[in-house]
Amino acid sequence: MSKTIIISNRLPVQLQISDGGLTATPSVGGLATGMKSVHSGGESLWIGWSGLTDEETPKALEADIDKALEKHGCAKVGLTEKDIEGFYFGFSNRTIWPLFHYFLEYSEFELEFWNIYKAVNQKFADAIIEKSEEGDTIWVHDYQLMLVPQMVREKRPNTSIGFFLHIPFPSYEIFRTLPWREELLGGLLGADLIGFHTYDYERHFLSSVRRLLGLEVSFNDVYLDHRTIKVDSFPMGIDYKKFKDAAVSNQKNTNEKRSDLQIKLDNHKASAPDTKLILSIDRLDYSKGIAKRINAYEYFLNKYPEYKEKVRLIILAVPSRSNVPQYQLLKKEIDELVGRINGELSTVNWTPIWYFYRSLPFENLIDLYTSSDIAWLTPLRDGMNLVAKEYIATRIDKTGVLILSEMAGSAYEMNEALLINPNNFEQQADTLKKAITMPREEQVARNMFLQNRLERYNVEVWANEFMNALNRKSEGENPNISQKVSDTILKEIGNDYTKAKNRLLFLDYDGTLAGFHKDPQKALPDEELYALLDKLHQQENTTIFLISGRDKQTFTKWFLPKGYNMIVEHGVWISRNGEEFKLLEQVKDEWMGKIKPVLESFVDRTPGSFIEEKNYSMAWHYRNTDPDFGEKRATELNTVLTSLIGNDDISVLNGNKVMEVKSSNVNKGRASVRILGEDDYDFVFAIGDDWTDEFMFQELPDSAVTVKVGLKKTQAKYHVENTKRVRELLKTFTEK
Ligand code: ADP
Ligand code: G6P
Repeated sequence: MSKTIIISNRLPVQLQISDGGLTATPSVGGLATGMKSVHSGGESLWIGWSGLTDEETPKALEADIDKALEKHGCAKVGLTEKDIEGFYFGFSNRTIWPLFHYFLEYSEFELEFWNIYKAVNQKFADAIIEKSEEGDTIWVHDYQLMLVPQMVREKRPNTSIGFFLHIPFPSYEIFRTLPWREELLGGLLGADLIGFHTYDYERHFLSSVRRLLGLEVSFNDVYLDHRTIKVDSFPMGIDYKKFKDAAVSNQKNTNEKRSDLQIKLDNHKASAPDTKLILSIDRLDYSKGIAKRINAYEYFLNKYPEYKEKVRLIILAVPSRSNVPQYQLLKKEIDELVGRINGELSTVNWTPIWYFYRSLPFENLIDLYTSSDIAWLTPLRDGMNLVAKEYIATRIDKTGVLILSEMAGSAYEMNEALLINPNNFEQQADTLKKAITMPREEQVARNMFLQNRLERYNVEVWANEFMNALNRKSEGENPNISQKVSDTILKEIGNDYTKAKNRLLFLDYDGTLAGFHKDPQKALPDEELYALLDKLHQQENTTIFLISGRDKQTFTKWFLPKGYNMIVEHGVWISRNGEEFKLLEQVKDEWMGKIKPVLESFVDRTPGSFIEEKNYSMAWHYRNTDPDFGEKRATELNTVLTSLIGNDDISVLNGNKVMEVKSSNVNKGRASVRILGEDDYDFVFAIGDDWTDEFMFQELPDSAVTVKVGLKKTQAKYHVENTKRVRELLKTFTEK
């Protein structure tokens, strides 16, 4: 039976060796806690790092380790100390993590880290290949493994691969500072589906793909060679029921069953019933804004001194990545801050901050969530922040106030929380006051909405939505595109070609017979193409027409000596068997003088764009502009031109990164139908890649074989992936 392979650096359990035996502790962090619920429910294998390096693993314990992991449906990837240093503490957490969280100044660009990151990603990819079978679905997680999708794709081209990023994807301006940016994007694009927590991260990613790789992006599809990659946002949920049920049983606990922590919390509440408990829980990470939060707390106590002795801040900081220098510095900073504030403000009856630096068992987490009146989470940047969702899920009587940074991914879905900018102390102090004094009814009203949403869009729904989107993708569901020219279809077309007594072929040039070039004049035909066209042209009972939007001078230079039939400028000119070009259509050109200054003003305002002047049309090319800016300008130009030309016989064509203004009565459809009418043809074939070719696909009779190059929406019957495939297809004709 096919299964799902989950793959992440961190497994849901971490192994340790103590007293010669193995202990397994649950992992902390959004990825592991969230995916754990998904994993336990289904047929899946989770591959990741066990928490022990190869050096720490005695040979005698190897089998026990595999067995211990197997119990949790997991399998390990063996990593050495050097791997962990360069891959985990190095590239993952000293380069990517700070950069993607906008801590540019903390980001280290070390070649050695990068090389080890690549090698370790390869180890994970190899483990997937080894442990999976054809038909399995692969789900790769997070920033530690961004190269894995492409590494797996190379060995298993037809496997369905999903990737989810649990941290923010930064804006292009930040991402482009990374020396290995193209490689990372290429690694991710090995996946069929790439998921992010929010639309903004998705947008940033797509912008980097367009700008850095120059790939075509349409809505949320990326076109790469013969594949489309879907990019979408799936905000991760929590195991709502687990947290709610835990809170219910916590409430039912009788005195003896209460944890020590709960007893301490209850005693505190009993001794000071009008004191509010404010909770802050995070991994000890600079992205979480813990130091700023403590400073803001001091600011609040100074601004509203009446709350001294009336509030207590509980800080739970979970040790994290302690080999990374920035984390060590942060630990020191927090220790000192808490010490200073407690030293300065404590009274005999009151300590303003209770500080815990440790990981707590799940039950204690629930004790804290259920006992705190306010959760105060102020990350400076956070992919999602599940703690915010978990706090709300445990509030079974619907009381409690969540103060949440608007820089957290979860803020997008938690509008009813009190959203703050963590850098604005004034706002934070006022919001704390508002939270402390918020009437119970308002708390209930806000939490009701939040809980409904969290319950509905829980982690299981999240995972299902992702997997369904991935399955739809691998089943090839794409209503917009035509049928691919498979081997069987190619054979059928070939048979019709052989049987036919009189054949007519229309072949577009740019993007079909030849690839694009920054300078259109440099997209010259190569020897292979000439040889192919010669063979077709010389075949008995076969008429080929090159049909293009190009100007006649260029095609005269490139193809006239060859004697091929040609139609250029979308159907204005025709040349047969090496004769000079003649007019095929009577067209007007007086309008050109009026349109030219408009196009020139767009060239001036759009760096990288230029005008191509043909005899009866003018084209504004924007392939070499910034892609987003180019598209924007093209829309603007379209509006300007459409209003300018009114009902004239002039029309604007949107081609592939080009806008062309020309007479309305000229198009490839009209031209091809005219040629078709000149003789009795029993095999008609047309192939092209862009919008201008759609006229042919539309107007040629149903019996014609029409082929689109690329995966875009089309009227053609079939599609092939790229120019290489076009040539392969035409080559089969020459062999008939
Ligand atoms: P991140 O993934 O950056 O650590 P999240 O808030 O998304 O941040 O996820 C943190 C996860 O770790 C939550 O699911 C939370 O329950 C868990 N967690 C946080 N603190 C502790 C702790 N002290 N002990 C055990 N689990 C914790
Ligand atoms: C974040 C990351 C996870 C990571 C977790 C804990 O949630 O997105 O990939 O596992 O933090 O960090 P750690 O370095 O301990 O795995």
